[in-house]
Amino acid sequence: QGKYKLLKPVFLIGFMGAGKTSVAQYLANVLGLASIDADEYLELMEDRVIADIFAEDGEDYFRDIETRHLEELAKRKLVRLIATGGGVIKRPANIEIMHSYGYTVYLGVTADEAAERIPNTESRPLFKNIDVARKTVLERMPLYEAAADAYVETTGRKVPDICREVALRL
Ligand code: S3P
Repeated sequence: QGKYKLLKPVFLIGFMGAGKTSVAQYLANVLGLASIDADEYLELMEDRVIADIFAEDGEDYFRDIETRHLEELAKRKLVRLIATGGGVIKRPANIEIMHSYGYTVYLGVTADEAAERIPNTESRPLFKNIDVARKTVLERMPLYEAAADAYVETTGRKVPDICREVALRL
């Protein structure tokens, strides 16, 4: 008792369409770990979809509750793989939470490939069009890099191949 330390949670970070949710699910299945999608958890707890939260209360409000739910998830003893929302790096508090509870793996993707992977952007209020996406990827790149404990490029790669590299870094 007390001898065994629990594996720290791994937070997958990266732009929309980087594959955070798919990678978390695939790895959870292979490694026998519990995974969760932070956006899905937030929608469940708030009983509202993200598009409605943005439309009704705006991005700042969304970011406030995103931080609150992220911390709740980070404290869970069971959930070991957490797919975060693409904008999680916009708040320094979120980066502090992820680093104090666990590790971050940054999944890189180009805006063009992200757009191909996300045919329907209605549920993602900040993925307006390819020009905005390209600009946002560039703006956020330094934030993802600064927050990353490890980096895995996903452009041009399939989920199992990405997962193999992520698993080797855990
Ligand atoms: C956002 C990404 C979304 C979601 C929200 C805002 C962003 O998550 O949190 O729409 O700012 O990049 P995914 O990366 O899971 O799409």
